[in-house]
Amino acid sequence: MIREVFESGRPITYVRSAEEQRIARVLAEVGMRLLASPPVPVWTWSLTEGLRREDGLTEAGTQTARRVLDFIIAHKGAAIFHLQDFHEPLRESAEIRRRLRDLYESCLDRQKFVVITSPVRFIPEEIERSLMFLELRPPDLIELVEFLRDESRQALRGENGPPDEAVLYQFARALQGLTLDEARYAMRRALAANPSLGPECLPALLEEKRALVNRSGVIEYVADGRGLGEVGGLEGLKKWLLERRKLFHLRDSLTEEIMPKGVLIMGIPGCGKSLSIKAIASCFQLPLYRVDMIEIFSGRHGKPEGAFVEACRKMEEMAPAVLWFDEIEMGITSADSGGEQGRIFAFFLMWMQEKARGLFVAATANRIDLLPAEMIRKGRFDEVFFVDLPLKDEQIDIFKIHLNRRGVDAAGFDLEQLTQFTNGWTGAEIEQCVISALTQARLANRELSEQDLIRVAVKLVPLSRTMKEQISHIRAWAFERAVRASPGPAGR
Ligand SMILES: Nc1ncnc2c1ncn2[C@@H]1O[C@H](COP(=O)(O)OP(=O)(O)OP(=O)(O)O)[C@@H](O)[C@H]1O
Ligand SMILES: [Mg+2]
Repeated sequence: MIREVFESGRPITYVRSAEEQRIARVLAEVGMRLLASPPVPVWTWSLTEGLRREDGLTEAGTQTARRVLDFIIAHKGAAIFHLQDFHEPLRESAEIRRRLRDLYESCLDRQKFVVITSPVRFIPEEIERSLMFLELRPPDLIELVEFLRDESRQALRGENGPPDEAVLYQFARALQGLTLDEARYAMRRALAANPSLGPECLPALLEEKRALVNRSGVIEYVADGRGLGEVGGLEGLKKWLLERRKLFHLRDSLTEEIMPKGVLIMGIPGCGKSLSIKAIASCFQLPLYRVDMIEIFSGRHGKPEGAFVEACRKMEEMAPAVLWFDEIEMGITSADSGGEQGRIFAFFLMWMQEKARGLFVAATANRIDLLPAEMIRKGRFDEVFFVDLPLKDEQIDIFKIHLNRRGVDAAGFDLEQLTQFTNGWTGAEIEQCVISALTQARLANRELSEQDLIRVAVKLVPLSRTMKEQISHIRAWAFERAVRASPGPAGR
């Protein structure tokens, strides 16, 4: 790409990337091949080191930004100049901005190329037209495999023969979305824990990736895998997911229309929305990433709109994956509710249509009435599910799941009878009931009995009683706009 820019004769290029080394490698390569011979020298400049040629030659007196620009303007002959972190001088000084425009003239058609790299995009208006802006995306699968091949050769130092190709691809897929430096770091840490470089390294590698991804603060890698079997009831949703899984795995051969894009799950708090999303990821056998809307609006990551766009773009590089927007209504409300949120919403709608194929978006919402109508309209999400309070059979299912999970055999319990006391309960309340009853039984030093469960149940005041109005409001609203996640009596 950079080579193409050079060939088109653009003398100044601004590359946004944090990967200076990777760019330096690309430039060295371009320098070797740009003109037939001799190779074009590559100079690198940074505020701390001044200007330095690849063979180590330094140029005294080029410490300041102004001096280096003068040097380039005066330089005779073909050369590539790599200016690192040059956004700072650009921001601070009008003189530098002026000089950069002079430089443009002096480099034009003289085989002199200037490449500015910076992790941020800062391009003052007056020089915008003099330069070409590029964004260096993280390495793709092929580049990662190549990189891993080199890395592992070094790590193994020729022992055990060459690394297994299938394993390299597996690693590369796991590391997708990271920069090369990050990938190297993750790889070395994983190898330190387990030097064999086999599939058994994978969990350590994923753990390193999780730590690296979470550092950004906006996207969180969710490692808490839950199977579909841990979700009680919601058969409608489960059936739909199993069908989608099949389609999702065929994604490379599907037309755009039937390619699964995502799902919106709304419903009553504590009835298994978050749980279902985790189950989607394990059902699709994909990693799950959560975008924290509250972080995005915190201001800690710059303007919310920029942070949101950045997060979405970053996720495309991690595809295939499930991307979870939790409490999406916190960030995306009607377009008329103000500039920033309106723009985020507009971006989201567009992005949902054109995003990378391997990305499945799963969004959850409680206050569905806050969501704009366009969000729910077909086409953005493949389906909108409503998770209601569990029905009687579903409650029994949920009791069984939570009892089994805690090592209690539910076979001897009359759960049917128990549900007389659990009218209007959420899944979270059922779980709470199991935990409380178990705690009491353990304190009294005996096995859990049905009576323990009943004793807790009669005392519990469910959310659906204290929040009766809100819940009927949510229900009334959802009945017209969503499919029930459980095949209940009031299905659409
Ligand atoms: N259908 C269910 N099957 C099994 N467990 C459930 C179910 N629904 C809820 N639970 C239990 O309740 C806990 C809370 O549920 P979850 O976090 O999925 O609710 P939510 O709908 O996301 O609620 P919130 O709106 O508060 O985020 C789950 O971790 C799970 O243990
Ligand atoms: Mg939740």
